[in-house]
Amino acid sequence: MQEKIKEITQQVADYQIDNKEQLEAFRIAYVGRKSVIGELFDGLKEVAQEDRRAVGQELNALKNAAQAKFDEFQTLMEATADKSVAVEFDLTLPVIPNTLGSVHPLTVVRARIIEIFEKMGFSLSDGPEIESDFYNFTALNFAENHPAREMQDTFFIEKKGGEVADDILLRTHTSNVQVRLMQNQKPPLRAIMPGRVYRNEAISARAHCLFHQVEGLYVDKNVGFKDLKDTLFHFAKEMFGQDTKVRYRPSYFPFTEPSAEIDITCLICKGKGCNVCKYSGWVEIAGSGMVDPNVLELCGIDSKEYTGFAFGMGIERITMLKYGIKDLRLFTENDVRFLRQFDGV
Ligand code: DAH
Repeated sequence: MQEKIKEITQQVADYQIDNKEQLEAFRIAYVGRKSVIGELFDGLKEVAQEDRRAVGQELNALKNAAQAKFDEFQTLMEATADKSVAVEFDLTLPVIPNTLGSVHPLTVVRARIIEIFEKMGFSLSDGPEIESDFYNFTALNFAENHPAREMQDTFFIEKKGGEVADDILLRTHTSNVQVRLMQNQKPPLRAIMPGRVYRNEAISARAHCLFHQVEGLYVDKNVGFKDLKDTLFHFAKEMFGQDTKVRYRPSYFPFTEPSAEIDITCLICKGKGCNVCKYSGWVEIAGSGMVDPNVLELCGIDSKEYTGFAFGMGIERITMLKYGIKDLRLFTENDVRFLRQFDGV
């Protein structure tokens, strides 16, 4: 009997289990009542009384070893079985689309604007949306009581207690960041400044109380109007395509002299005339000009040594032109039917 136990112990230890079939054969041969080990237990009663205890212990050890080996391989098989299920997936099937959302068109266009100017060596700058009258108007050469202040309908901030402060406001343009930049850094300065701006306007297809601008500023020795023209000319072609025509129209801003507005050929009608371009064939994309020497001086820059140009453009306007969007309100209504069209742009 003890010989047999030894032999079977060796068999159990050596048994090769590589697949489910072998595991099942092992179970039949060594685990359970009808296995060889079960038969040995049946034969235990024939063992001499004085040896029975010792032989019983050996037999139990064999039974436990067989059971342990079976359990171990069963767990292993289950784990590998899971893997083989994964491999059974058809990897050539089209992927399930990711419905997490899409990038907002204004974000797409802002990123593109930044990319174009970064390639021309402009860095990024930022400033506060709640601003003082000084940075939004005074430092930009808007004289006290100057009618230019009324060009932009301003939201003033209420102080604690409900009193309206006439010197704290929501910035009406990103030009405030120009001032902060010129005060804080020495020329040469070359930066663009994207951000939100606010105006007290009734919301319509063409106007909103909240919109986005990108300001640009370049101050150095010998910066001229030609540099401004070249920069914005290059921008327009990169943004709207190489066939785009650009024109500069004299204009007025308190902080630039001379000032110009920049128009491009209407992308909707290709210059033939439509209601978007009011039948002129041209649409405005930016205001610009040479930084007024008064502004340079107010910001602590010597206007005899340095000159500069500045520009400001509306991101909504550029996005509308680029994608043929005719109503400004679509940008803020969160209508997924509109937003989804910009999937993967
Ligand atoms: N701040 C102007 C506006 O909101 C746009 C603008 C015009 C910015 C000319 C400039 C500039 O920097 O030079 O209408």
